[in-house]
Amino acid sequence: MSDGSRETSDRVTERGILPGLATGRLGRRIIYFDSTDSTNARASKLASEGAPEGTLVIAEHQTAGRGRLGRKWESPPGVNLYFTLILRPEIPPAAAPMITLAAAAALTKAVRALYNLPAAIKWPNDMLIGFKKAAGILTEMNAEPGRVRHVLLGVGVDVNMTREMFPEEIRDISTSIYIARGEKANRAELLRRFLFEMETLYDNIVSGRKEVVLDAWRSLSCTLGRRVTVKGLWGERTGTATDIDGSGGLVIEDDGGKRETVISGDLFFNYPPE
Ligand code: BTN
Repeated sequence: MSDGSRETSDRVTERGILPGLATGRLGRRIIYFDSTDSTNARASKLASEGAPEGTLVIAEHQTAGRGRLGRKWESPPGVNLYFTLILRPEIPPAAAPMITLAAAAALTKAVRALYNLPAAIKWPNDMLIGFKKAAGILTEMNAEPGRVRHVLLGVGVDVNMTREMFPEEIRDISTSIYIARGEKANRAELLRRFLFEMETLYDNIVSGRKEVVLDAWRSLSCTLGRRVTVKGLWGERTGTATDIDGSGGLVIEDDGGKRETVISGDLFFNYPPE
């Protein structure tokens, strides 16, 4: 009973997800795969064929899950969430990074509310639990000058992974809700809560209230106020992370008080965070 077998519906199919879903648009149409290469790849095809706003593409298993910066995303079957939302926001392309920030905030909010875990956002869009990575977001935009055609919001959450299931090279820096909580979590319930929180923030973006999203991100972040190093293809910067800007860039202040904004890269905490 403690391994989650009492949960009769932890399927991430339409039948598992729709009952109890409180959204108006997000996740109302679901395209489910037992196994696929990558839900972002599937969603890209579906979006170009005209899939409507809010379509949720979800898989039990990915054979070629994609992470940020060309990395692989571990996607074993039966334990986690791998999904992509197709969004068609009427916003300028420059505002699209808000969607990724909103997703990180929505997921962190959902995990805190459902499981009372110390979930927090590491810039740019990782969700950590106890300073170990438990989720990542890969956003891909298709735009023309001045207009977003669609945004693919890909989210991977390590829900019920055991420590042994992580490849050795990421075992010590990764975690899951199960590892942090000591009890299996219902994936469909988590997904529904995420979609609900996401829709609220997304509505704010679309109606021009991006400060609401930035404030949510700030209040859920474990990045701001810490000494960090960000490494990118452009080089690296070290200092105190002081803020996030309207494009999702991280403001870093060096020891001399000089502020710079970095827009991409990997962030490292400069001392072990407690
Ligand atoms: C990261 O590197 O942190 C981002 C990981 C994003 C993984 C998700 S899983 C669902 C979707 N499909 C993919 O191929 N990638 C994203």
